[in-house]
Amino acid sequence: MSKDLASFHEALLQSKRVLAVCGAGLSASSGIPTFRGAGGMWRKHNALELATPEAFRKDPGLVWQFYSLRRHNALKAAPNAAHYALAEFARQRPFPEFLTLTQNVDGLSEGAGHKGKSVEFLHGSLFRVRCARSWCRYERFDISDPITPALAVPEGEEDGAWRDVPIEGLPKCPECRTGLLRPAVVWFGEELDSQMLKRIQQHIARDPVDLCIVIGTSGTVYPAAGYASQVKAQGGKVAIVDIDCSVRGDDADWLFEGDAARVLYLSTFPLSDTC
Ligand code: OAD
Repeated sequence: MSKDLASFHEALLQSKRVLAVCGAGLSASSGIPTFRGAGGMWRKHNALELATPEAFRKDPGLVWQFYSLRRHNALKAAPNAAHYALAEFARQRPFPEFLTLTQNVDGLSEGAGHKGKSVEFLHGSLFRVRCARSWCRYERFDISDPITPALAVPEGEEDGAWRDVPIEGLPKCPECRTGLLRPAVVWFGEELDSQMLKRIQQHIARDPVDLCIVIGTSGTVYPAAGYASQVKAQGGKVAIVDIDCSVRGDDADWLFEGDAARVLYLSTFPLSDTC
């Protein structure tokens, strides 16, 4: 395994097909906490335990407060150099040459101009809401902050002070008028969009990917965690960019330890000097 940026950059330029797989570490230097790092707690609640359909059924007010806070903080955050570098690379090497798969729901890739066919949002978006009733298909894009007055994040409480929010204070579905709205993100135990998964598999199978860059993800959640191995099994190379590579990279060809924004902007994508 190599730490040599020059050989990595050369491989990047030579690759016909490049896949980036991103996680929370991509947005860390924009101030968005990761899931399994120190910021992955909200008050006494583990962020991972709130991201479930069971938690929403049990206490929708609690789960909505958590998501209202995440929406509020994501709207205040700005994309960092890594988001811009990936967006710029996507402009230079349009789909199908370059495809990004991101697990992030914070809207920062879109904010950097990384949109369209060249990026798939595996876990949805904080800024889409849908009816929680499985039979109601209502969904909309929504960046209102707060989404209801009861879910306003009080000034100075951006770390998330908890209040009781009665069910009447939560957003309702305007279509069926019986369900609550919920964030259109993928929660634990839920299926990812099957059409999207099919598109990704077809993309990887159609022409082998030469290089997969894994950026700021602990590699614990599938299917995202499996794409690099799939690329490797098809003969492609793998590079990992992460602030902590201590337990990573057994089968990586390159391993770059550091902040994604710094590594991607300064070294990985030197072509992205328009940031
Ligand atoms: P994790 O919190 O599991 O992992 C974040 C990774 O980013 C870790 O490997 C950190 O070392 C790394 N990291 C932290 N700061 C970084 C920085 N500044 N630069 C580079 N790397 C950094 O987050 P994910 O892997 O994204 O899913 O988590 C995967 C999924 O688990 C999430 O999408 C979410 C969560 O449950 C759902 O909610 C469905």
